[in-house]
Amino acid sequence: MNTMKLCATCLFGLEGLTSSQLKRLGFRDVSAENGRVTFSGDETALAKALVNLRFAERVMINIGSFDAVSFTELFDRTYELPWERFIPVDGAFPVTGSCVSSVLHSVPDCQKIIKKAAARRIMEKYRLSWAEEKAELYQIRFTVIRDRVELYIDASGQALHKRGYRAVGTAAPLRETLAAAMADLSGYRGKGVFWDPFCGSGTIAIEAALIALNRAPGLNRAFDAMNWRWVNRKIWPQVRQEASAAEFTGGYEILASDIDEGALEIARSNASKAGVSKLIEFFRADAGELELRRGPGRIVANPPYGERMMERREAALLMRRFGKRCSAMDGWSFCVLTADADFESSFGSKADKKRKLYNGMIKCDLYMYPDKERQWKWK
Ligand SMILES: C[S@@+](CC[C@H](N)C(=O)[O-])C[C@H]1O[C@@H](n2cnc3c(N)ncnc32)[C@H](O)[C@@H]1O
Repeated sequence: MNTMKLCATCLFGLEGLTSSQLKRLGFRDVSAENGRVTFSGDETALAKALVNLRFAERVMINIGSFDAVSFTELFDRTYELPWERFIPVDGAFPVTGSCVSSVLHSVPDCQKIIKKAAARRIMEKYRLSWAEEKAELYQIRFTVIRDRVELYIDASGQALHKRGYRAVGTAAPLRETLAAAMADLSGYRGKGVFWDPFCGSGTIAIEAALIALNRAPGLNRAFDAMNWRWVNRKIWPQVRQEASAAEFTGGYEILASDIDEGALEIARSNASKAGVSKLIEFFRADAGELELRRGPGRIVANPPYGERMMERREAALLMRRFGKRCSAMDGWSFCVLTADADFESSFGSKADKKRKLYNGMIKCDLYMYPDKERQWKWK
């Protein structure tokens, strides 16, 4: 296969991290937009992106883009695209997608038209009277945003945040991609102490351990593109071997604590599935009474934030106690992700930097308190 137009989608706010990683991996034509980063490459590039990307949700092939404000336009322009280049005679190609701020606003209608047009094209090119679709999956995805249609074939299968280690979660687990972003944005590269004192199912500490090891997040999972017959099967072990060879070894100091024994049990089991349990020290502790075990280092956390009034009041009190402890931790840095707009006032200090991130559809801020020459503004 020649060079393809590829696209990595990601949570809003993670475009910069995704595009930096793509550039580090040696990709060309990397360009970030809202919630996605485009780049180009061949089948090996596709496999490399799937196995290595830490902050992306999906990797897809862009089949075409055009403007459309009528179903006739949508059908005709979809039909013109070279679907047979990617979808074999018996390949299955269901269609799914979304419409935002567009004349064509009905997702089921767009879905039907795109399916009809792609099916007609495939049947004509393969001289079929109907498309059998009994072989491997080529999931078609579309977006219609402000009348611009983008058509893709998804190479990922399950979303890339599903690394495979979190079979069981706790009440409010973070997406793995967002947890990895928090660890990365805190500046953690494996040096010094890393501590999540509200660890829940352990996602942040596990992602920090994967970063410390430079372990590719997709090393042990499957992707739809692995079943595509036009992708050379030898590429996958090669790409995985290359990723494994880039791993580091060494001693790391990653701490993860929580007040809930049940959560800790799940976190331990997840860390073991991720193959990083030896790197993380799990223990029970109240974050409002933190006792320093070592340090200095960095605290990266996603504390509880109540939906209801009572829970919010409780969460604010906890942040007050947590903030007091943090104020006594000389030389430490803090990164806290929360949807609580009053966090700084409860925590007792204004952040040096704030970064808007989305946990799924929930808008959060990452409050960052770097350690160097920090001017604490405690109330
Ligand atoms: C939003 S969840 C963290 C989710 C976690 N990032 C994950 O991916 O699973 C908040 C966690 O804080 C814990 N927690 C609540 N109060 C606490 C306290 N006083 N000290 C330590 N942990 C506490 C809860 O048990 C819960 O696991």
